Amino acid sequence: MKRTKIKYALNAENALNDILIKGWVRTKRDSKGFSFVELNDGSCLTNIQAVIDHTPEIVEVLDKVGTGASVAIAGSLVESPGKGQKWEVRGTSIELLGEADQETFPLQKKRHSDEFLRSIAHLRPRTNKYGAVFRLRSELAQAIHRFFAERDFFYIHTPIITGSDCEGAGEMFRVTTLEPGSKESAESDFFGKPSQLTVSGQLSVEMFALSLGDVYTFGPTFRAENSNTPRHVAEFWMIEPEMAFADLNDDMDLGEEMIKYLVSHMLDNCSEDIELFAKWVDKSLMPTLETILADPFERVPYTEAINILKKTKKQFEYPVEWGMDLQTEHERFLCEEKFKKPVYVYDYPKTIKPFYMRMNDDGKTVGAMDCLVPRIGEIIGGSQREERMDVLLARMDEMRLEKEDYWWYLDSRRYGTAPHAGFGMGFERMLMLITGVSNIRDVMPFPRTPKSLEF
Ligand code: 4AD
Ligand code: MG
Repeated sequence: MKRTKIKYALNAENALNDILIKGWVRTKRDSKGFSFVELNDGSCLTNIQAVIDHTPEIVEVLDKVGTGASVAIAGSLVESPGKGQKWEVRGTSIELLGEADQETFPLQKKRHSDEFLRSIAHLRPRTNKYGAVFRLRSELAQAIHRFFAERDFFYIHTPIITGSDCEGAGEMFRVTTLEPGSKESAESDFFGKPSQLTVSGQLSVEMFALSLGDVYTFGPTFRAENSNTPRHVAEFWMIEPEMAFADLNDDMDLGEEMIKYLVSHMLDNCSEDIELFAKWVDKSLMPTLETILADPFERVPYTEAINILKKTKKQFEYPVEWGMDLQTEHERFLCEEKFKKPVYVYDYPKTIKPFYMRMNDDGKTVGAMDCLVPRIGEIIGGSQREERMDVLLARMDEMRLEKEDYWWYLDSRRYGTAPHAGFGMGFERMLMLITGVSNIRDVMPFPRTPKSLEF
């Protein structure tokens, strides 16, 4: 007999004479003549309760069944006399698939701290909270593909190993086949030249926007930035749409539409898991997900944002001046205190942005935009791209970039260049927005951060 996932057992329309469920024991309680076993198989948040009458054989098995063990229970699905659940399993047999040593099994019935659970990242998906996080993560990834498929965007797989630094921030992990400490030159390395893990698929995906129109890439990206914050990891997933014949406003429109679509999709399809988080979130800082849906996002030019920050009485750690990059404290002030909703800041000084962003007529700012959301700060970073060859070349000179390294990128401006725009959304940050989880390490299966590579 095939097992029924607990999610389907709990939502059954009718009682069933025969059912087989398998899962991990959350609790076992023994009574006179029978035992209760609460089972979870990861398919949903709620456990199913099994009531098993004692026979000598069953008691022998039950004696070895503790929290964390995996079992198979066969029996019938019957209406539950207990409160809160419609169905329960009346078990007629139980098989112990995998014992869990009660002396050492680290997950107890009490609430464990997130910090402790991070140290057992391999077991934490067995808890209610992390089970929910990773179901939501999976659904969010699917929803992203649906969002783009419904809008006729093509999904492009951009390379993970690359020879160019898209963001120019020099935060790349090196990939090499040379032995550690080898004196051999880069020419003897696998590619015959230095190679790195990508920080962004943008330069590659731009080539496809200028061929297929609307495209996106969605994959892992890597940054060797040594920042130990609750919002940065060395390996994260990024969604990068790129649209031909589009400008900065189209770009901001797409980002807003996407955030709203994803929030609304998750509310409609994952209410049980979402409600678990809604209970914990600090509501004073978190606009309800419904507010994100209700209002248009604010859109403020960088120069105006700086003026707002300068005028406020609030004391910042970093002094505010035109030309600086906004720090998280500034970003959070804008969306949490000033506007109380997601905010786009756009037209940033060229000096703090990469070479590929389109120069504005003022010669000082570029067509860049960041979307800032409460509790997180930047969730999206994007721009209109510089499509004019002469302006792009001048900018590359200014930034001392080797044009030969970008010959293929420049070809797109040489042959049939066109206005285009795109952005990158941090997948984990989007998941933090939806769940209210405040540390990015807690929305990743096995987070990669400085000095930590346990799993
Ligand atoms: O703003 P960023 O650096 O933009 C780019 O890489 C562009 N090339 C994207 C594009 O236009 N196609 O990164 C984009 C987003 C950020 O807004 C943030 O959400 C996320 O990626 N991000 C990180 N997430 C987790 N950990 C890190 N270290 C991150 N760095 C960026
Ligand atoms: Mg950015």
